[in-house]
Amino acid sequence: MDADDRSKMDGLEVEACTRCPALVESRSRIVDGTGPPDADVLFVGEGPGKREDAEGEPFVGRSGGVLDEQLRTVGLERESVRITNCVRCRPPENRDPTGEELEHCRDYLEAEIDQVDPDVIVTLGKVPSEHLLGRSVAVTSEAGSVETVRIDGTPRRVLVCLHPAATLYDRSQESTFAETIAEAAAIAGVSPDDAGGQSRLGEY
Ligand code: URA
Repeated sequence: MDADDRSKMDGLEVEACTRCPALVESRSRIVDGTGPPDADVLFVGEGPGKREDAEGEPFVGRSGGVLDEQLRTVGLERESVRITNCVRCRPPENRDPTGEELEHCRDYLEAEIDQVDPDVIVTLGKVPSEHLLGRSVAVTSEAGSVETVRIDGTPRRVLVCLHPAATLYDRSQESTFAETIAEAAAIAGVSPDDAGGQSRLGEY
């Protein structure tokens, strides 16, 4: 994408996008990312589910509850991190977004990454991990690994993480999820002692 196109784009708020006919049909609204536009940690999920579509915010359902709890445990408040998705519209019946839909939404995600310029991008699950790393990823065995990849020309640190829902299906995954979130906090220079006392990472 050239600089002119980029200046016309705002990955933080997307208006009236009609690139994916099936998603235009299935969505109630576009669900943009939330959190500080200069957060040190950016979480990227797959796409909005039913609750997110209804409320207009990523990760507000059961998966969001798991994520919030773990964030608190490591001293990262939800309000201090940015949370977004690979696609901003709910796929019908919660199916995975298609490759074409992921590509349609990619420049919004890249614009958001550019603007937020995080220390680390945490990919929640297989879809965002493969989308940003550009290769197949075995999330269960690779969770906790950090890889630097170029995203829209800039090297970015990507930390592979389980999707929070994985811990709901399989409790034995809880510790891996918790360790990866702790790793994200460590990269951002936040310790569990900061829990409750901090609202914005950038102030530390
Ligand atoms: N799962 C996701 O991948 N994203 C959300 O926003 C909610 C659940």
